[in-house]
This record gives sequence, C-alpha cells and structure tokens, in this order.
Amino acid sequence: MNHLKEKKILLIITGGIAAYKSLELIRLLKSEGAKIKTVLTKNGKEFVTPLSITSLTHNKVYEDLFDAKDEAEMDHISLSRWCDVILVAPATANTISKFSYGNAEDLASTLVLASNKKIILVPAMNVRMWMHQATQENISKLLNYGYLCIGPEIGEMACGEYGEGKMSEPSKIIKFLNNFFSEKKFILNNKLKAIVTSGPTKEYIDPIRYISNDSTGKQGYEIAKSLSEKGVETTLISGPTNLLSPKNIKLIKVQSAEEMYEETKKSLPVDIVVSAAAVGDFKVSQIKKNKIKKQDITKLELEKNKDILKFLSTHNSLRPKLVIGFAAETNNIIKNAEEKIKTKYCDWIIANDVSKSEIGFASDFNEVSIIYKNKNNELISKRKKSEIAEEITKRILENFNS
Ligand SMILES: Cc1cc2nc3c(=O)[nH]c(=O)nc-3n(C[C@H](O)[C@H](O)[C@H](O)COP(=O)(O)O)c2cc1C
Repeated sequence: MNHLKEKKILLIITGGIAAYKSLELIRLLKSEGAKIKTVLTKNGKEFVTPLSITSLTHNKVYEDLFDAKDEAEMDHISLSRWCDVILVAPATANTISKFSYGNAEDLASTLVLASNKKIILVPAMNVRMWMHQATQENISKLLNYGYLCIGPEIGEMACGEYGEGKMSEPSKIIKFLNNFFSEKKFILNNKLKAIVTSGPTKEYIDPIRYISNDSTGKQGYEIAKSLSEKGVETTLISGPTNLLSPKNIKLIKVQSAEEMYEETKKSLPVDIVVSAAAVGDFKVSQIKKNKIKKQDITKLELEKNKDILKFLSTHNSLRPKLVIGFAAETNNIIKNAEEKIKTKYCDWIIANDVSKSEIGFASDFNEVSIIYKNKNNELISKRKKSEIAEEITKRILENFNS
C-alpha cells in the first residue's frame, strides 16, 4: 500500500560519496507520488549537480541561506513549514555533528534547527568515521532529541573498507517512509506518546552490595522498539541492563526503584505506559556509606518501594489512557495476574512464567497471557520476544484506533 502519495518530503543531500543514491531515491519518491523539494549543501554539490536533481524533481534546488528571491520569504522557514518530514540522505558525519550542536551556519543546518517536523537521518560514511566516539555521541544526542535514523548498513564501502557505515538503499528508505506514514497516520495526527519501563532495579545496601533480580530488560526493550517503529514517541526508562541503546528512542537509565519512579513521573503526560520493569518491591531503609563489615551484618531493615504501576493507574489528572503492567510469576500465573489487575487498577496485565528457562528472563523467547480489564484473557504462544513485542504493539494500536 502506498502511503507516500501527496506527502511533502524535504530532502537534504549532503556531501558524501553516497549522494548519487539520492537521485534514485528521488526517482522512487516521485513514483510513489510524493512531493519533493531538495536542499543541496555546498559540499553536496561536489557529488551531484543541481541540474541532475532538478531534472528529476522539476523543482528548483535550494542551496543558499541568503538566496531567497523575495525578501519576505525566508527559505529556511518556508521550507520547514512546507514539508511533512525532513529526510537527510546521505547524512554526513559533518552534518550530523552540526545538527547535534545546534549550528545554524548554512541552509541545511538552519532549517533543521528552525523546524518542528520529524527529521529522518540516513547516515553514510566510512566505518571509522561512523564508529568514532564523536559521531556516536552526536547521533545518540540527536536520537534523544527525537530524530529518526535509517541505517547505516554493514557492507563494503566505496573506500574499500568493510563495516558499518553504508547508506541504506533507496528501496529501504521508501519502505521506512511508507511505514512511517501508514499505520502511523492516526498516531502522527494524534501524537501518541508512550513510556516503557524495563529491566531490573538495584537497591543498594552499601556501596558495593545490592538487592536486585534476574530481569535482563529484553522484553521491555523490544516493546519500546516496536512502539517506536510504529511511530509512537517512546521514552524507555531502563534499570541496569547490558542491552544496546535502541535507535530512535529516548533512553533514561536508572538504578533504583525510586529513580525509576521519579523519571516516570517526570516523563508524564503520555498516552500509554508499559510497565515491563521488574521493579524491586523493597529497598533498605538506610544505605550504608561504607562497605559493611561481615561481622556487622546481622539483619537488613527493609521498607516498601513506591508502587509505580499503581501510582500511574490511580493518578487523577495525568493517568495515561492505557496502563499496562507486567506480572512475572513462577506459579498460579493467571490467577495472580487477575488479582494484580484488580489491586493495581491498570487496564491490562501481561503475565509471563519466569520459572521456565526457555521463556524466562534471560531467554530470547517468551509466552505471555494478556489479562484485560474488560474482556477475556488472551494467550500469545511461545515466540521470539521481538515478535511478542509486535503482537503487544498491534493490540495497543488497535485499542487506540477502535
Ligand atoms: C571523495 C570524498 C568522499 C567523501 N565521502 C564522505 C562520506 O561518505 N560521508 C561523510 O560523512 N563524509 C564524506 N566526505 C567528507 C565530506 O565531504 C566533508 O566532511 C564535508 O565537509 C561534508 O559537508 P556537508 O556535511 O556540509 O555536506 C567525503 C569527502 C570526499 C573528498
């Protein structure tokens, strides 16, 4: 299904060797019925000519910040107002750096800074440029600002090296954009926002000892990724995990349940909360400043942590429209989950059996039952955690589309 028809795409072409691919990209965008305006950086002109772009778009190519014919019309403002989305393909290391620092020194960087539209980057560069800490920090910063990113891909580069840094193929970019504008049409219009909590929490006893659990955060990360891929603006609040930061998601790292509670509160209001974190029920009443000597440990005084799920479900003014909790159980899974939905006042509980190693915390697989407040329970049979996440996301979006 074509969702690009009549969509206004502002394509920024920067000075990378992959700029030739942007010509094919324009051709495909045109054949999908999209409207295209292009900005070419000064260095981009070294790789593709304005003439070849114009021949494909039948529109002028915007190049210069101070080029507006009419003084009343400032291109950097009018272009960003005109478009539905800004696509930067290829996005060089230099341009990514400029965006991340908020520079406004040429037409491309100025209009991006002046825009409130979604910005999609398609990075392309040598593997070492991409892997450089500076580029990685710049890109993480932009992802945290809500920029989206397609690729880069792993493969052989123009310079003869092999690795991550290749620009995604135009067909993949088209697929991404179609996805972006399709199922998300509803979401984009309504700007759905979600918080996903994930991972374990750590409750320190002294500087080196803590109470925690075996959660790896995999299921929560997959749900955050899947929501974000469907266009939901997602904040992932994660306890300590070894997982890579997912792309296109604002990631907030926390340690304790108290921090998770505070960060969740700060991230409100949202439409959806998926509380997948295995939040510690207890914390020690007083964390010791220095390591406790063996002979001094007699008993631990514990107190209850704040109940994040219940707090969200019962919040008067900021209650998300859909509050989903997780129940990690080792026995009486359904019965305990049915009990939990009543005591936590949430809308759905996703129950899983963490006693089985093949679908437990560390596994890549899961099997869950969804306990709904207002309808019959539903089993999602054993499959990859990423597929479970897609099924959950599908049901969340159906809930908002119905
Ligand atoms: C032959 C050649 C190929 C280049 N390819 C890339 C590239 O693929 N990615 C990149 O980030 N920079 C590349 N560069 C460096 C950029 O052109 C340079 O950083 C420039 O300042 C980018 O300008 P812009 O981001 O304003 O377009 C290349 C330079 C040359 C000379």
